[in-house]
Amino acid sequence: MRIDVVSLFPDFIERCAGFGVTGRARERGLVSLHAWNPRDYAEGNYRKVDDRTFGGGPGMVMLVEPLRRCLAAMRRADPQPAHVVHLSPQGRRLDQRKVRELAARPRLALLCGRYEGVDERLVQAEVDEELSIGDYVLSGGELAAAVVVDAVARLQDGALNDAASAAQDSFEDGLLDCPHYSHPVEHPYGTVPEVLRSGNHAAIARWRRQQALGRTWERRPDLLAGRDLSRQDAALLEA
Ligand code: ADE
Repeated sequence: MRIDVVSLFPDFIERCAGFGVTGRARERGLVSLHAWNPRDYAEGNYRKVDDRTFGGGPGMVMLVEPLRRCLAAMRRADPQPAHVVHLSPQGRRLDQRKVRELAARPRLALLCGRYEGVDERLVQAEVDEELSIGDYVLSGGELAAAVVVDAVARLQDGALNDAASAAQDSFEDGLLDCPHYSHPVEHPYGTVPEVLRSGNHAAIARWRRQQALGRTWERRPDLLAGRDLSRQDAALLEA
């Protein structure tokens, strides 16, 4: 898939997306990343990209025109339509279901705001959806865009060395993940649960499911609210 990022800090995105699974997905040609700087499309000696907010108040607003021209150049670079996402604390909260939906698209454009935000007219005219990565305020959309790039890149076929690992992630079945252990079996901090060393795959699957349900119940009861547990899951949770 192709991801275009519109940001006043294109180097930041390039760097963030250069490591680990995302870096590998790019090397393998599964994801191509293109950064666009609206300042390159601003006019005047100062290449102004922001101005004061009408109505008064603190902070600056990103101007329509540099962003509009930047997005137009981005669209000209590739005729394939892009799904344009504005990263903003006013957006709908990102979750794994949304990540899967975005990951299935052939082209995404991530618009990163700075300052107080982006002129609303640009958002109305050019943006398909607004997404937030949580109920807190960052100083810009770049970190949120890097989160989207990472979450989406790892879901591309061939990005993870073990294809099963994405399916086992937290949230893929609406639950938190179970705990994981590796060597050594005995350590001053504790012992690896015996069932995981038993070789009994049915018992291991049952234990993992029980742990996932228990953790979700304890830590994120909101994920279970309004969800009908199967009889087996209800029994595991009660055990
Ligand atoms: N920009 C600033 N804060 C943000 C957030 N919480 N999510 C997405 N974009 C943002």
